[in-house]
Amino acid sequence: MRIKSVIKDAGKVLMKVAGSEPDATERDLLHTLKMEHDEVKDLLHDLQEAQTAVQRRALVKKIKLALVPHTKAEEKILYAAIIALGDKDAQVDGHEGYLEHECAARTLQHLGAISNVTSSEHKAASKVLKELVEHHIREEENNVWGDAKKHFSDEDRVVMNRHYLAAKARVKVS
Ligand SMILES: [Fe+2]
Ligand SMILES: [Fe+2]
Repeated sequence: MRIKSVIKDAGKVLMKVAGSEPDATERDLLHTLKMEHDEVKDLLHDLQEAQTAVQRRALVKKIKLALVPHTKAEEKILYAAIIALGDKDAQVDGHEGYLEHECAARTLQHLGAISNVTSSEHKAASKVLKELVEHHIREEENNVWGDAKKHFSDEDRVVMNRHYLAAKARVKVS
Protein backbone atom coordinates (compact mmCIF):
# COMPACT_ATOMS: atom_id res chain seq x y z
CA MET A 1 0.00 0.00 0.00
CA ARG A 2 2.76 2.38 1.01
CA ILE A 3 4.82 1.56 -2.09
CA LYS A 4 1.78 2.18 -4.26
CA SER A 5 1.26 5.66 -2.85
CA VAL A 6 4.97 6.47 -3.24
CA ILE A 7 4.77 5.45 -6.91
CA LYS A 8 1.60 7.54 -7.33
CA ASP A 9 3.27 10.62 -5.81
CA ALA A 10 6.37 10.13 -7.96
CA GLY A 11 4.09 9.95 -10.99
CA LYS A 12 2.47 13.25 -10.05
CA VAL A 13 5.88 14.92 -9.73
CA LEU A 14 6.97 13.54 -13.10
CA MET A 15 3.76 14.77 -14.74
CA LYS A 16 4.37 18.26 -13.36
CA VAL A 17 7.97 18.25 -14.59
CA ALA A 18 6.87 17.05 -18.02
CA GLY A 19 4.25 19.81 -18.12
CA SER A 20 1.25 17.47 -18.33
CA GLU A 21 -2.28 18.47 -17.46
CA PRO A 22 -2.48 19.70 -13.86
CA ASP A 23 -5.04 18.22 -11.51
CA ALA A 24 -8.43 19.95 -11.89
CA THR A 25 -8.18 21.59 -8.46
CA GLU A 26 -4.67 22.93 -9.22
CA ARG A 27 -5.71 24.57 -12.45
CA ASP A 28 -5.99 28.23 -13.35
CA LEU A 29 -9.68 29.17 -13.69
CA LEU A 30 -9.01 30.46 -17.21
CA HIS A 31 -7.63 27.06 -18.21
CA THR A 32 -10.85 25.34 -17.09
CA LEU A 33 -12.99 27.94 -18.86
CA LYS A 34 -10.98 27.55 -22.08
CA MET A 35 -11.51 23.78 -22.12
CA GLU A 36 -15.24 24.26 -21.58
CA HIS A 37 -15.49 26.95 -24.27
CA ASP A 38 -13.82 24.62 -26.78
CA GLU A 39 -16.17 21.80 -25.82
CA VAL A 40 -19.33 23.88 -26.29
CA LYS A 41 -18.06 25.34 -29.58
CA ASP A 42 -17.55 21.77 -30.87
CA LEU A 43 -21.06 20.78 -29.79
CA LEU A 44 -22.61 23.84 -31.48
CA HIS A 45 -20.67 23.04 -34.63
CA ASP A 46 -21.88 19.42 -34.52
CA LEU A 47 -25.48 20.62 -34.16
CA GLN A 48 -25.14 22.58 -37.41
CA GLU A 49 -24.05 19.39 -39.18
CA ALA A 50 -26.47 16.95 -37.52
CA GLN A 51 -29.37 15.89 -39.69
CA THR A 52 -31.34 13.28 -37.75
CA ALA A 53 -33.82 14.09 -34.99
CA VAL A 54 -32.06 11.71 -32.57
CA GLN A 55 -28.67 13.39 -33.11
CA ARG A 56 -30.09 16.90 -32.90
CA ARG A 57 -32.09 16.21 -29.73
CA ALA A 58 -29.05 14.63 -28.03
CA LEU A 59 -26.84 17.57 -29.01
CA VAL A 60 -29.27 20.18 -27.69
CA LYS A 61 -29.32 18.29 -24.39
CA LYS A 62 -25.51 18.18 -24.25
CA ILE A 63 -25.24 21.89 -25.09
CA LYS A 64 -27.68 22.75 -22.31
CA LEU A 65 -25.75 20.60 -19.81
CA ALA A 66 -22.48 22.27 -20.84
CA LEU A 67 -23.71 25.84 -21.14
CA VAL A 68 -26.02 26.35 -18.15
CA PRO A 69 -23.66 25.30 -15.29
CA HIS A 70 -20.75 27.07 -17.01
CA THR A 71 -22.52 30.43 -17.34
CA LYS A 72 -24.11 30.33 -13.86
CA ALA A 73 -20.84 29.46 -12.10
CA GLU A 74 -18.91 31.93 -14.25
CA GLU A 75 -21.28 34.73 -13.19
CA LYS A 76 -20.99 33.79 -9.54
CA ILE A 77 -17.21 33.41 -9.37
CA LEU A 78 -15.71 35.47 -12.19
CA TYR A 79 -18.19 38.19 -13.15
CA ALA A 80 -19.13 39.05 -9.57
CA ALA A 81 -15.42 39.43 -8.70
CA ILE A 82 -14.78 41.56 -11.80
CA ILE A 83 -17.75 43.84 -11.08
CA ALA A 84 -16.68 44.20 -7.43
CA LEU A 85 -13.40 45.77 -8.59
CA GLY A 86 -13.15 49.53 -8.77
CA ASP A 87 -12.15 49.33 -12.45
CA LYS A 88 -14.96 50.86 -14.54
CA ASP A 89 -13.85 49.28 -17.84
CA ALA A 90 -13.76 45.85 -16.20
CA GLN A 91 -17.24 46.47 -14.78
CA VAL A 92 -18.57 47.20 -18.28
CA ASP A 93 -17.03 43.93 -19.52
CA GLY A 94 -18.70 42.05 -16.64
CA HIS A 95 -22.16 43.57 -17.23
CA GLU A 96 -21.87 42.92 -20.96
CA GLY A 97 -21.11 39.28 -20.18
CA TYR A 98 -24.23 38.96 -18.00
CA LEU A 99 -26.40 40.33 -20.81
CA GLU A 100 -24.88 38.00 -23.38
CA HIS A 101 -25.47 35.03 -21.07
CA GLU A 102 -29.10 36.10 -20.83
CA CYS A 103 -29.41 36.27 -24.64
CA ALA A 104 -27.87 32.80 -24.97
CA ALA A 105 -30.15 31.38 -22.25
CA ARG A 106 -33.25 32.78 -23.99
CA THR A 107 -32.18 31.39 -27.35
CA LEU A 108 -31.48 28.01 -25.75
CA GLN A 109 -34.94 28.07 -24.18
CA HIS A 110 -36.46 28.98 -27.56
CA LEU A 111 -34.55 26.11 -29.18
CA GLY A 112 -35.81 23.67 -26.55
CA ALA A 113 -39.42 24.73 -27.18
CA ILE A 114 -39.33 23.80 -30.89
CA SER A 115 -40.73 20.27 -31.07
CA ASN A 116 -39.75 19.54 -34.67
CA VAL A 117 -35.98 19.38 -34.28
CA THR A 118 -35.30 18.88 -37.99
CA SER A 119 -37.39 21.94 -38.99
CA SER A 120 -35.89 25.04 -40.53
CA GLU A 121 -37.04 26.95 -37.43
CA HIS A 122 -34.89 24.69 -35.24
CA LYS A 123 -31.94 25.02 -37.61
CA ALA A 124 -32.29 28.82 -37.55
CA ALA A 125 -32.42 28.92 -33.75
CA SER A 126 -29.38 26.65 -33.44
CA LYS A 127 -27.50 28.89 -35.87
CA VAL A 128 -28.36 31.99 -33.83
CA LEU A 129 -27.27 30.25 -30.63
CA LYS A 130 -23.96 29.26 -32.22
CA GLU A 131 -23.33 32.83 -33.41
CA LEU A 132 -24.25 34.33 -30.04
CA VAL A 133 -22.06 31.93 -28.07
CA GLU A 134 -19.10 32.28 -30.43
CA HIS A 135 -19.30 36.07 -30.24
CA HIS A 136 -19.60 35.92 -26.46
CA ILE A 137 -16.64 33.53 -26.05
CA ARG A 138 -14.46 35.72 -28.26
CA GLU A 139 -15.18 38.85 -26.24
CA GLU A 140 -14.97 37.06 -22.91
CA GLU A 141 -11.58 35.54 -23.72
CA ASN A 142 -10.24 38.90 -24.91
CA ASN A 143 -11.79 41.33 -22.44
CA VAL A 144 -12.94 39.60 -19.25
CA TRP A 145 -9.87 37.36 -19.17
CA GLY A 146 -7.65 40.40 -19.70
CA ASP A 147 -9.30 41.97 -16.64
CA ALA A 148 -8.89 38.73 -14.67
CA LYS A 149 -5.18 38.50 -15.53
CA LYS A 150 -4.68 42.15 -14.60
CA HIS A 151 -6.44 42.03 -11.24
CA PHE A 152 -6.02 38.45 -9.98
CA SER A 153 -2.74 36.63 -9.43
CA ASP A 154 -2.02 33.08 -10.69
CA GLU A 155 -2.67 31.82 -7.13
CA ASP A 156 -5.95 33.77 -6.91
CA ARG A 157 -7.11 32.17 -10.13
CA VAL A 158 -6.34 28.66 -8.84
CA VAL A 159 -8.47 29.37 -5.74
CA MET A 160 -11.19 30.86 -7.98
CA ASN A 161 -11.09 27.67 -10.06
CA ARG A 162 -11.85 25.55 -6.97
CA HIS A 163 -14.79 27.81 -6.12
CA TYR A 164 -15.91 27.70 -9.74
CA LEU A 165 -15.90 23.87 -9.84
CA ALA A 166 -17.87 23.75 -6.57
CA ALA A 167 -20.40 26.36 -7.82
CA LYS A 168 -20.82 24.50 -11.10
CA ALA A 169 -21.52 21.23 -9.29
CA ARG A 170 -24.37 22.94 -7.39
CA VAL A 171 -26.18 24.16 -10.54
CA LYS A 172 -29.28 22.11 -11.34
CA VAL A 173 -30.23 21.82 -15.00
CA SER A 174 -33.93 21.14 -15.54
FE1 LIG B 1 -17.32 31.40 -20.50
FE1 LIG C 1 -19.52 33.57 -20.41
